Amino acid sequence: MSKLVAKNLYKVFGSHPKRGVKLVREGKTKKEILKETGMTVGVNDVSFEVEEGEIFVIMGLSGSGKSTVIRCLNRLIEPTAGDIIIDGKNLTKMTKQELIKVRRTSMSMVFQNFALLPNRTIVSNTEYGLEIQNVPPKVRREKALEALKLVGLEGYEESYPDQLSGGMKQRVGLARALANDPEILLMDEAFSALDPLIRTEMQDELIELQQKMKKTIIFITHDLDEALKLGDQIMLMKDGEVIQIGKPEDILSNPADEYVERFVQGVNRSDLLTAADIMVKPWTTIGIHKGPRFAFAECKKYGLEHLLVTGEGRTLTGTVSIDAIKEAIEAGESTLENILKTDEVNRVAPDTKIKDIIELTLQSSVPVAVVNEDEKLLGVIIKGSILRALMTGRGDEDA
Ligand SMILES: Nc1ncnc2c1ncn2[C@@H]1O[C@H](COP(=O)(O)OP(=O)(O)OP(=O)(O)O)[C@@H](O)[C@H]1O
Ligand SMILES: [Mg+2]
Repeated sequence: MSKLVAKNLYKVFGSHPKRGVKLVREGKTKKEILKETGMTVGVNDVSFEVEEGEIFVIMGLSGSGKSTVIRCLNRLIEPTAGDIIIDGKNLTKMTKQELIKVRRTSMSMVFQNFALLPNRTIVSNTEYGLEIQNVPPKVRREKALEALKLVGLEGYEESYPDQLSGGMKQRVGLARALANDPEILLMDEAFSALDPLIRTEMQDELIELQQKMKKTIIFITHDLDEALKLGDQIMLMKDGEVIQIGKPEDILSNPADEYVERFVQGVNRSDLLTAADIMVKPWTTIGIHKGPRFAFAECKKYGLEHLLVTGEGRTLTGTVSIDAIKEAIEAGESTLENILKTDEVNRVAPDTKIKDIIELTLQSSVPVAVVNEDEKLLGVIIKGSILRALMTGRGDEDA
């Protein structure tokens, strides 16, 4: 038995939703219905099945109906027609009381904007959901602490939300959902507001958590890379309809129609990948206080003409060339300070699109450095990583 089944789900927003459904069933398009009646078709005959322990990804462009579908699953939005069946029980036929119970025990939602209460500590935010269910203070505190541990936030229990980074806030959002110990996690663009590196980290952690805890997860994203990485199954939506449901490989190798194909080709285009996606570990760097002989050995070891030089806290300070290094050895220098060139480095931010880095990388003899706002070196882009990304459409898996 599938964990969750959505059967012929419809949602029409407007004055006469039932009539709207009738019109869609008669074959009118979303556009026609909007023009003729002013009503919006949010979800149009959507059916899918999710197995227990699976990550089911819903993707599609903005306005395609992803959020409406996920909100219909716990009846946060009342479907106009269709059935939601969880563990064989029809949610759409339940009374308010029964529904409240299912919402509390089987499903939790994680939102994009974290939705944390600013005046409450992290642990108090985490137990908030349990608090409104009147779970006794001692029990809910215990569950909240355990959930915070799971998402790696031990030590931050007494902090306040504004003391946390975006990635940490999203972990709290996740902990709050986990504290409920739900069987199904509903995640609507939960990682979309995070910067690329943190986002990748959260994706890895979600996969790990899911393998450990065997949750069933419905995950919305508009990012195909994220969908391919996380999804056991991916459902593609357009204008409220399902275009394709399949395993990541099916979607890539067998796009159901032109729309999916365009979406898939999108992954392979250089304008979607960012510096963070293709950078490699900064093995071409050296600390400023290292001596020229060591620098020379490093150049030889990797066959390099230049090294990037880092200072305190891995901040990028400049470059040294192999010729300058040789001179420094002859001059008996003990550090690289006197031969450091600060004006030759090309710095880019992690979210810079590849298409904006290609020329820079191909022209420059020094690897392009990827740095954060604090000038901390995150990685380097070498010619090989660009070529690889252009040929395969993928970043460097080892980065
Ligand atoms: N409360 C509402 N009232 C009227 N129309 C709505 C409402 N909520 C959503 N819609 C419409 O339903 C359609 C689907 O919206 P939905 O929010 O589900 O899209 P989405 O795929 O989640 O988009 P996004 O990626 O921007 O979050 C859109 O045309 C939207 O305008
Ligand atoms: Mg949405």
